[in-house]
Amino acid sequence: MKGLVQFLVAKIILLALASSFVYCYDPNPLQDYTVLPPTKLMEFMFVLAVFVNGKFCKDPKLVTANDFYYSGLNIPGNTNNRLGASITNVDVSLIPGLNTLGVAIARLDFAPGGQLSPHIHPRASQIILVLKGELSVGFVSSNEYNYTLFSKVLYPGDVLVFPIGLVQFHANNNKKTNAVAISAYGSQNPGVIPVGNAVFGSNPLIDPKLLAKAFALDVNIVRHVQRVFSSDADIVN
Ligand SMILES: *[C@@H]1O[C@H](CO)[C@@H](O)[C@H](O)[C@H]1NC(C)=O
Repeated sequence: MKGLVQFLVAKIILLALASSFVYCYDPNPLQDYTVLPPTKLMEFMFVLAVFVNGKFCKDPKLVTANDFYYSGLNIPGNTNNRLGASITNVDVSLIPGLNTLGVAIARLDFAPGGQLSPHIHPRASQIILVLKGELSVGFVSSNEYNYTLFSKVLYPGDVLVFPIGLVQFHANNNKKTNAVAISAYGSQNPGVIPVGNAVFGSNPLIDPKLLAKAFALDVNIVRHVQRVFSSDADIVN
């Protein structure tokens, strides 16, 4: 019995050590591709073992072109929400062949006056290309560079880069036409943290008195903003 416990403890320590570098960053590909098996199989394997290099791989002999393929970014996202915008993400959850390759793409749609509110992509830098309309975009540096705002108004054909981890926003200032952009990311799963949702729409809510002090706001305004964010629809498709 004691031997078994020691064995299990040793195994857990070994797994912890082995996974420390697996989880810290998008790893570089270790081979040409490591396509995900169907979700059900993956769940089954997850029970049996740990993730290695992101996800489990499909047998390379069984990989087909469809494992690298997605169709549908020609379809506009639904912008019928409070912010008048939508993100259609095409990441590793939709293209299994993206696994470990460190890229993903998304379509951004904006109704007239719509915006993607200040947010952070925790795992990737981003580069956007405007296809239609005009977008007022920007990002803010960290305290180290004095919270400097870098902003531009982009038109079709214009490209802007957003460094990883900085607060950024995209807004369609045009009140008459919609806007469309394509966004590429340096991660198979860039993630998104809308600042408002994280701060004012958490589950459970952060103490409104704490937020009132943090943001120099009246506590009733904080409660109002919390109600708005708590009932906001998710704009990521
Ligand atoms: C930030 O502000 C400090 C203090 O004023 C200054 O010394 C430093 O050069 C600034 N850095 C940048 C990147 O603006």
